[in-house]
Amino acid sequence: MATITLTNNATKESFDFELIECTRGPKAVDFSKLFERTNIFSYDPGYGSTAGCKSTISYINGKEGELLYKGFPLQKLVEKYQFTDVCKLLITGDAPNNGAESKEFEIELMHRSFLHEGLINIFNAFPDTAHPMANLSAALSALSTFHFHHLDMSNEEERQVMARRAIAKIPTLVAFAYRHSLGIPYIYPDVERGYVENFLYMLRAYPGGKMKQTISGPAEITPLEVEALDKIFTLHADHGQNASTTTVRNVASTGAHPYAALSAGINALWGAAHGGANEKVLDMLNEIGDAKNVDKFIAKAKDKNDPFRLMGFGHRVYKNYDPRAKILKKLKDDLDAKGIKMDSRLSDLAHKVEEVALNDSYFVERNLYPNVDFYSGIILSALKIPVSLFTPIFVIGRMPGWCAQLLEHIKDPTTRITRPRQVYIGE
Ligand code: ACO
Repeated sequence: MATITLTNNATKESFDFELIECTRGPKAVDFSKLFERTNIFSYDPGYGSTAGCKSTISYINGKEGELLYKGFPLQKLVEKYQFTDVCKLLITGDAPNNGAESKEFEIELMHRSFLHEGLINIFNAFPDTAHPMANLSAALSALSTFHFHHLDMSNEEERQVMARRAIAKIPTLVAFAYRHSLGIPYIYPDVERGYVENFLYMLRAYPGGKMKQTISGPAEITPLEVEALDKIFTLHADHGQNASTTTVRNVASTGAHPYAALSAGINALWGAAHGGANEKVLDMLNEIGDAKNVDKFIAKAKDKNDPFRLMGFGHRVYKNYDPRAKILKKLKDDLDAKGIKMDSRLSDLAHKVEEVALNDSYFVERNLYPNVDFYSGIILSALKIPVSLFTPIFVIGRMPGWCAQLLEHIKDPTTRITRPRQVYIGE
């Protein structure tokens, strides 16, 4: 057994701690008995050096810019499979396939995509000026008032029902939150459409399920639009113990209702340092406005007396180009070439910001590269998705990851209630 020795130089006492083996990446020192054995806590604000669990779901190599889901490289999943296959992979561990099982899973999600009619009262109670993320977190929490059966979390079948229901209903919740903000009637899911196409349909359709009429006929949702959004969802599906996933696990560790835990994940994701950054990137690009202003904003980002940060840049784990940003940047250019036209002003401006930052010693020395949020908003805008839905789109993408992590947490016999300590410095 490999160990690490910790020596207290004042008392000369030494303690051995076991090194935990892993399949990839850094090992961890088992400090779970540190306090019991030494009467000393470990101090790690923001948990930058702390592993809170053992996990088999996603692997990130921050130095190389590599991301795997259940051992599958992200690039391969994005190219070969659809988002619902990735959902199944994450929550069941079943290898993705493009066959009957894959279709069957998507059909199951579609049949579970409807909301209890009572939930509509919840949306109706909110002001139409509310941010869709606020409506979404409240509505997901409210699912716990309608679905308290099939929630014996010691039963694998019921755990699966819980996760599938959340993944199935989240696009409907996002579409309802959006339509409520516009004051327009809700569109119910169309079970004959696929998971991603149905989401776009619920956003865009007119009452009666009609698509917008144009001189050349109804503006149907194109396969290219569906493919683009599908890839965006897959790119967001899981990402280790990020802030929102850790929040889901923390809430679940108390034995709270699983939908309350998932709703807490939505709240954690909303912040601008996390999933809320995709919305802020567009605000920032619009504020920069013109290539001639880029240097001024880069200087602001470097100024420690200025709260401005380059949104969509930097990451706790990646000290290299975020592989998701790399895929998104290429996807943006590919879609543009295939006819989903990007806003060229925003796209050129983003390229310029990236170029200036990556040639600036401040960003180079700190290993600050574009992250997943830097290019996603430009693509979402080209798909006619309003800015206020950028972070809710992240929620749809991340839901299978949160569910998989929640299930892993519940099944892991070594997990305990999350209860960190503190270093008391008060009176
Ligand atoms: N612009 C300017 N400086 C930055 C940026 C940025 N975007 N990001 C980090 N830095 C600087 C910090 O000021 C710090 O400088 P210092 O060493 O001189 O003090 C150094 O780089 C390290 O940054 P930290 O804040 O310590 O890194 P941390 O891991 O705590 O934060 C975070 C990571 C929150 C993502 C940060 O980079 C940031 O705020 N980025 C902008 C918001 C963003 O894009 N968030 C989305 C992240 S991806 C996701 O969650 C989906």
